[in-house]
Amino acid sequence: MNAKTSLKTTKSSLPPTPYYLLDEAAIVANMQIIARLCELSGAKALLALKCFATWGVFDVMQPYLHGTTSSSLNEVRLGYETFGKGKDSDNEKETHAYSVAYSTDEIDEVLSYADKIIFNSISQLNVFKEQAAEKGIPVGLRLNPKTSNSSFIIADPARPFSRLGEHDKDKIAAVLSDITGVMIHNNCENDSFEAFSDSLADIEARFGDVLAQLEWVSLGGGIHFIAPDYPLEKLATRLKAFSEKYEVQVYLEPGEASIHGAGSLVTSVLDTMHNEKNLAVVDASIEAHMLDLLIYRESAPIAAINKESINILPVDMAKTADVVDNTIIYGRSCLAGDIFGEYALPNQLQVGDKIAFGNAAGYTMVKKNWFNGVNMPAIVIRRLDGSIDVQREFDYQDYKASLS
Ligand SMILES: Cc1ncc(COP(=O)(O)O)c(C=O)c1O
Repeated sequence: MNAKTSLKTTKSSLPPTPYYLLDEAAIVANMQIIARLCELSGAKALLALKCFATWGVFDVMQPYLHGTTSSSLNEVRLGYETFGKGKDSDNEKETHAYSVAYSTDEIDEVLSYADKIIFNSISQLNVFKEQAAEKGIPVGLRLNPKTSNSSFIIADPARPFSRLGEHDKDKIAAVLSDITGVMIHNNCENDSFEAFSDSLADIEARFGDVLAQLEWVSLGGGIHFIAPDYPLEKLATRLKAFSEKYEVQVYLEPGEASIHGAGSLVTSVLDTMHNEKNLAVVDASIEAHMLDLLIYRESAPIAAINKESINILPVDMAKTADVVDNTIIYGRSCLAGDIFGEYALPNQLQVGDKIAFGNAAGYTMVKKNWFNGVNMPAIVIRRLDGSIDVQREFDYQDYKASLS
């Protein structure tokens, strides 16, 4: 985005649709769960910026988290400037740096922001370890346990021929004197404590000798411990026992868990049509504004219609070919499959109706794009005191500046 041309406003009334609406109270509710997990287990929690980097709400997250983790130079800089020591040199928040691959021309800058740096491979470790040592930055290595809890091959770090981390224990043992910790990320929206615990046991069986020689172990993100019936205490006990057994500081890198259920994408119906089923077209796009749903072939829940809170889950389109009363809500891009979902609605939609799609905070704003030149949703924050901040609006100049 072009910071010069973006409109930074703090209006108190809602802007025209589309807009992402973040609810600080819902974020804090998630934060309190994370803080309890940390308190019970001794783990430290770092916000994964790849999932959520809307720094306009970081002030309410900061008291509960221990810092941020990143996947690029831009993310580590953002974490440093908005959450870490760049914001306030006295603050204790850590800024972790990780990338699938760093380039030689960015490493010095990355190190200038990082409290720890994690390399994805032994070759990257060997190229950059001296520079990290000169700056006194602790170094880690990403391990790949070759097993995972991910039901999507595209998001599976343990997929065949994966480039995400080192798996050969002998090679890892040979570089132990260069590292103080490791990062392992092999869960994806995993809501089963048993599956997490079993996979941690696999990791222990595979890498136990290595772990015992380290100071810290990051277990990545993807643990869905904010689900209402998740056994948080069991997870805490498991993490504490792991930390004590290997005498390591455990880190967690929650992305989705930090903001799950705390945001919606508010849209308006622009048109309705009929083609064997009811169709509606809204003023946003799944491809441009909730891209993950398209990638993972999922649909969006509806959180509100015309400001009335409701929870309407999408139906499985593969099973509803002959349910003619249902409504398919489309995005306004030209992609034929730009579909928010199919729904059994209480009333037929009308032009002008406002639809808020739920769970639109994670992996949405960090992935938004200008496909078809569709209007970019504003970013709106409902503060803890209930007031509304229109934090950022985007216009034609932002679209134009993003292209040349
Ligand atoms: C290394 C790493 N850490 C943390 C996360 C955050 O995962 P989630 O948002 O599922 O918690 C990811 C997600 O891909 C990741 O790759």
